[in-house]
Amino acid sequence: MAARIIDGKALAAEIREGLKPRIDALRLKGVHPCLCVILVGDDPASRVYVRNKGKACQEVGILSREHRLPASASQGELLTLVESLNRDPSVHGILVQLPLPKGIDPKPVLDAIDPAKDVDGFHPVNVGRLMIGEPLFPPCTPAGVLRLLEHAGVPLAGANAVVVGRSNIVGKPAALLLLQKDATVTLAHSRTRDLAGLCRRADILVAAIGKPRFITADMVRPGAAVIDVGINRLPDGKLAGDVDEAPCAQVAGWITPVPGGVGPMTITMLLENTLLAASR
Ligand code: GUN
Repeated sequence: MAARIIDGKALAAEIREGLKPRIDALRLKGVHPCLCVILVGDDPASRVYVRNKGKACQEVGILSREHRLPASASQGELLTLVESLNRDPSVHGILVQLPLPKGIDPKPVLDAIDPAKDVDGFHPVNVGRLMIGEPLFPPCTPAGVLRLLEHAGVPLAGANAVVVGRSNIVGKPAALLLLQKDATVTLAHSRTRDLAGLCRRADILVAAIGKPRFITADMVRPGAAVIDVGINRLPDGKLAGDVDEAPCAQVAGWITPVPGGVGPMTITMLLENTLLAASR
């Protein structure tokens, strides 16, 4: 039987509709949620992401401010900007779009963001809080993954979850969020032995590798939930996830499409985190 498709676009739209009245209520109390996005340089993909974030804010009634710095900007200039946004009480969320141009070390920049405004959840304080199960802001993409699984009704407690990919932005925090929901979690990566065999034992398989169609149908347990975090541009210009979608959908119980799965959820979680920051 073919897998049920978990429609991230529809769920994202539903959640965004639900945010609007909460944002309106806050505005009536005199607080207008505001997200500042900092873009350094002119990486084309980053420009598209930043534009999409701005549009999404506008649609739900969040103020969005874009701060652009040239690729030649110094670390000091960027830190000065972050510090001025930290001090500005009308700013609730600060996001520095990654990757930063070569020559700027992202670590001191992310460390400089006030943890109470760190809607990405990348500050070490927020990473640590996530580790102990008390996140101020759950990181957006992994939070989106969890919401998709919960919405689809995939049982999490006691499930064998395998996360493939150990990045700080997706793999590691996704593993922690699944663990918090009482899944038994394995965090796999490029050096994992018998990756295919491990994946085949997963009730929940999260692919966050960054290689197009890496997860093939023989790696999927019949009936498993397969969540595809990858967005890869193919030489022909088309998009492909980390999962070989059509064949895997013949084996899985649930699957997320690319595009239209995790992607729309990431920005939606950012909107939620910005509202959360403003509510506090
Ligand atoms: N670049 C790619 N994904 C992200 C993200 O989630 N947050 C930031 N700040 N930059 C990114």
